[in-house]
Amino acid sequence: MTPNSTISESANPSFYDRDSATYDEQRWESKTGQFVNAAQQKILHDLCAEWNDRRVLEVGPGTARFSIPLAQKRNHMTLLDISTGMLDVARANLEKAGCIEQVDQFVEGSIYELPFEDASFDHALSLNVFNHLERPGDALKQLARVIKPGSTLLFNYANLHSYYWPAARKINQSKTAVGKDVYSTWERPREMDRLIDEARLDLVERVGHVHVPMAMEQYPVRSIVMILDAISRSSPLKRLAPFHFCLCRKRR
Ligand SMILES: C[S@@+](CC[C@H](N)C(=O)[O-])C[C@H]1O[C@@H](n2cnc3c(N)ncnc32)[C@H](O)[C@@H]1O
Repeated sequence: MTPNSTISESANPSFYDRDSATYDEQRWESKTGQFVNAAQQKILHDLCAEWNDRRVLEVGPGTARFSIPLAQKRNHMTLLDISTGMLDVARANLEKAGCIEQVDQFVEGSIYELPFEDASFDHALSLNVFNHLERPGDALKQLARVIKPGSTLLFNYANLHSYYWPAARKINQSKTAVGKDVYSTWERPREMDRLIDEARLDLVERVGHVHVPMAMEQYPVRSIVMILDAISRSSPLKRLAPFHFCLCRKRR
């Protein structure tokens, strides 16, 4: 791939199949990785406190780092991912964590064509997936379709209008993540608000999260990012956070 070439999201499955074997180790084992994982787990814990003993769909679970704590809260999980490699690692991690019996099914498929009946889940989540999608509005409509009216959905997206704007703008020009052959895109919050509304969802809560991009891991930025992350969670500064986590409710 030349530096200026663009790729499409059809690159996602093969990228993640290759990435699956080292995904956890590369992203979450360093000091910065541990900080980002802990911050995201806390957001899940806080926003989804009521998700206990429910039927939950996770789309794009990757290696199951969010499915595991949800399974440990006795939720009955369905995991759908476009990458078979990721689903294999997810299964192994759930077995290791002793909660494989909480999984109803592993499904290979796409967020755009969820093979489930309308209103068949109590909740759904899709985290760190929308920044790899060309059609976020269609994805939101699918997620909204399969949850029950009045139920909640948690997803996040990469915010174009954030502290990381110069890098995000570059990524949007090439549609490629820095140093990785995977489709990547950053969204305008106002446009995401419109898509949430179009999917007949109400935004219940938006929280901001400042991650450390892998490309910045070698720089001593962790303490600055930790401070920025803390003040971006719920203050007005969350508007400028590079990730927005959105808890939405399906209209009745
Ligand atoms: C960055 S990983 C995130 C994994 C996990 N949610 C996490 O945060 O650790 C993105 C995941 O989304 C999956 N994915 C990408 N495009 C998808 C699509 N169109 N439908 C379903 N899954 C998709 C990838 O295979 C990968 O497992």
